[in-house]
Amino acid sequence: MPVEPGAQSLLDQVAEAERDLVDAAARDRPDAESDAYFDAVIAADQKIEPRDAMPDAYRKTLIRQIAQHAHSEIIGMQPEGNWITRAPSLARKAILLAKVQDEAGHGLYLYAAAETLGVDRAELYEQLLSGRQKYSSIFNYPTVTWADVGAIGWLVDGAAIVNQVPLCRCSYGPYARAMIRVCKEESFHQRQGFQSLYVLARGTRKQRDMAQDAVNRWWYPSLAMFGPPDGDSTHSAQSMAWKIKRYSNDDLRQRFVDMTVQQAEVLGVNLPDPDLRWNEERGHYDFTQPDYEELMRVIKGDGPCNRERMANRRNAVESGAWVAEAASAYAAKHNNRQEAMA
Ligand SMILES: [Fe+2]
Ligand SMILES: [Fe+2]
Repeated sequence: MPVEPGAQSLLDQVAEAERDLVDAAARDRPDAESDAYFDAVIAADQKIEPRDAMPDAYRKTLIRQIAQHAHSEIIGMQPEGNWITRAPSLARKAILLAKVQDEAGHGLYLYAAAETLGVDRAELYEQLLSGRQKYSSIFNYPTVTWADVGAIGWLVDGAAIVNQVPLCRCSYGPYARAMIRVCKEESFHQRQGFQSLYVLARGTRKQRDMAQDAVNRWWYPSLAMFGPPDGDSTHSAQSMAWKIKRYSNDDLRQRFVDMTVQQAEVLGVNLPDPDLRWNEERGHYDFTQPDYEELMRVIKGDGPCNRERMANRRNAVESGAWVAEAASAYAAKHNNRQEAMA
């Protein structure tokens, strides 16, 4: 349809004004490649994505933290996996299988999140096996009775939730998004542990003692999961400034204690700390700190089960190498076929 004289110039004017607006917006928005863009995203509480430029130290910190988290999920399958064949009923076995399988899934989301930072997961496995990357100290303690499975679900997964919920707001998009699903599953893990201990704590004398003994052994290692006290925590301040971490180790530990005391009362078990009491003035429970020297010893490789955990992991990587090789060959064949068809 012919455009009326005069109308054309109006359209031109609108188009020109739009072009000016787009140009102005582009001028005002820092280039995604620049440091200013990174700083602006962090200040605005938005997410940094894999395509964005980021300081090298930020990338390295995230790789270290996400890899350590992924390794913890995978190594964490061992202490409870130890009880799958000996679960006291079919229902408990099914629940435990589902839980341990979830932990494998968490490891996979996290290795995938680390890979978006440009590192290969084979390299991360290698760093774990050579001892250059760590995993959570908690998984170096043995599971000696069935009640340990309940205590781990209640205390260890409970502590993991307190640590991980704030990570859902972490500044790195892929890590934050992985944490949302992980936290939903962790909450099932915590509930199944609580429920399992609840049943034991109302059972025979022997079962009650077994539940209490497990809580006695897992309490302090669970408190140590939050890491060294704030004064000794080397990476904390920078991680908080980058909004990777939202709360300090000590704040999270306190939150966990406050939450757990009341749950222990419902369960009918005692937390093994004679100095645990409500402090009216602080509005929090006072408690005895875990043994941080023991924590450092265990992190450095000298806990009760470090050697066993690493030997099992090495064995799993080596004996599963042919599966990984076959899966890679299949994926490559599939890709080639797709490309040929395209
Ligand atoms: Fe997990
Ligand atoms: Fe879990």
